[in-house]
This record gives sequence, C-alpha cells and structure tokens, in this order.
Amino acid sequence: MTTAHAKAAARVTYQLETLWDYDYEPTHEELETLYETAKKNQWNGSTAIDWGRPIGKEGPVLNVQVAFAGTHFFSRLTPEEQREVEVRVSAWRLSQFLHGEQGALVVCGQLVNGIPELDAKLYAATQVVDEGRHVEVFERYVKRLHKIYPVDPLLKAVLDEILATNLWELKLLGMQMIVEGLAIAAFNLMRKQTGDATLGQLLDYVLQDEGRHVNFGYFALRRAIPDMEAAKREYLEDFTFRVCDLMYARDERTGFQSIKHVWNELGWDGDKIWRDTVAHSQTTKAFNSFLFHENLMPRLQRLALISPRIEPRYREIGLLV
Ligand SMILES: [Fe+2]
Ligand SMILES: [Fe+2]
Repeated sequence: MTTAHAKAAARVTYQLETLWDYDYEPTHEELETLYETAKKNQWNGSTAIDWGRPIGKEGPVLNVQVAFAGTHFFSRLTPEEQREVEVRVSAWRLSQFLHGEQGALVVCGQLVNGIPELDAKLYAATQVVDEGRHVEVFERYVKRLHKIYPVDPLLKAVLDEILATNLWELKLLGMQMIVEGLAIAAFNLMRKQTGDATLGQLLDYVLQDEGRHVNFGYFALRRAIPDMEAAKREYLEDFTFRVCDLMYARDERTGFQSIKHVWNELGWDGDKIWRDTVAHSQTTKAFNSFLFHENLMPRLQRLALISPRIEPRYREIGLLV
C-alpha cells in the first residue's frame, strides 16, 4: 500500500449528530447498576497484568494446532514450522482483536454524542475508557509476541460502516451486539486454550469489561426496537444479516481472509491453505457454530431482529436450522 492509500484508508468521513439531554431524568434503570459496576471495576493495564513474564514462550499462545486439526497442510509441517505458525497466526488473530478494540474505542466516542439519554451517555463514557485500556494491553502484548498485522479488509469494512452511520441504534447493534458479542465468545475460547499466563490474565480482565458492554447494547436496544419505525427496523435487520453472512467463514467468499498474509509470508500458497481450512478443519466449524449458533443468534432472536421476512435468508446460509 502506498502512503497516500494508507492515509486514505485510515480516514472515514461522516456526519455525526450530537444530542443534548437537558431534562436529566433517568431513563434506563438497568444502566444504573452497570454504570456503578463500571466505575468500581476499573483496572490499570500497566500494573494489573504481570508484564515480567516471557511472552509466547510458556506454552501455546492461542493453541492454533487445535484450530488446524483435520486439515491436510498442518499435519505435514515440521515441529519447527508448527511453532512458527503458532506464533504468527496467534499474532495475526490478536492483531484483528486489537483493531477491533480500536474500532470499539472510536465508535463508543461517537455514542457519547449520538445516544439521546444522559444516563446512556455516562455509561458509554465508561466504555470509552475501557476500550482505551483494551487497545493498550492488546497492543503491548502483540508487539512483544511478534508484530501487528494489518486490519483485515472485511473487519475494516464492517467497522467503517458502523462509524459512518448516523443511526446510534446501528452503532449499538453493530458494535455492542455483533462485533463485541462475537469477540466475547472468541475470548472465552481463547482463555480456555491458551498456555500463556500473560495472555490468560489479560483476557480475564478484558472479559470482565466486555460482559458489561454487551449488556449495555442489549438494554438500550431492547428499549428502542419495539417503537422503531418499520423502515429503520428493516434496515437494521438487513445490516445484521449482511454482516453475519460475510463473517460466517464457510467458503472462498466469506470470513477474515487476510490470514492468507501469514501463509504467503511463509512462502506457502495462501489460497490453497484457506480452502483446506474451510473444508477440513473440524474446529473451525465448531468455533463458528459456537460463535454464531450459541451466542449471536439467540441474542438477535431475543431482540426480535430475526423477523419472518429475513429468517429464510439465515436458513439458506445455515445460521438457523
Ligand atoms: Fe474491548
Ligand atoms: Fe468492549
């Protein structure tokens, strides 16, 4: 990427509506507790995590051999190559979470302006601080592990769309429910699989905060959706389906494909390994199923965002049975 391209890709222009709330009346009872917990449970990324341990040396980082079980290419690698893949793929994945955290930081900054009620603004302000801290700890970890890989084009497109909309409901839905909902499910699995104590500790702290963020999105949307005009609601439904369709990795068109960078930089055929992984990795299938079927879809259904109009399309792509 040339410098001019890189600069253009790093800029998103949008018009953001700022709403004041001058009546100072509480509107979200559930947010009171969430806000108090957020203030009480702040932590310092520099001191809460023990950064003195060697990073990526104590054991598998994300244990990627589990993810590649069943594929043809992985079993043919030497133990040294497998270790190299462990570090690079972990760094690639954690880089995407780092970019996602930066996305959450900037979207939440917008929500402070765009969400109508003051109690929701105050809660969103605590999330801005949380996400800043998440960016800090992921950046520190990934740089020490290996290097920061560029943002995946699909992830960037989704984050840009969430940033560019003027609808605060779409920001909440896209960031708090979809992106963060999927991230939490992934963090929980990563927490179970890592053999790296620093990453384990980092994830424990980040997960404490992320649970609140998803609840915030759920409470605010549950209140807004029933009274929403039909056209806006359909817009939210269509956005949700489109994003789920693209992120649910199952063929050559879908999923975060920039992992191919890792294979290409090792001198291997990235396209071939991608096809091998989507076709043969049992864990990738189990992972997707856990992320979407067990976590995201039930929450979308509770919010009544899977209407009879859109439901057949989810069935077509296998996200609903
Ligand atoms: Fe976060
Ligand atoms: Fe978050």
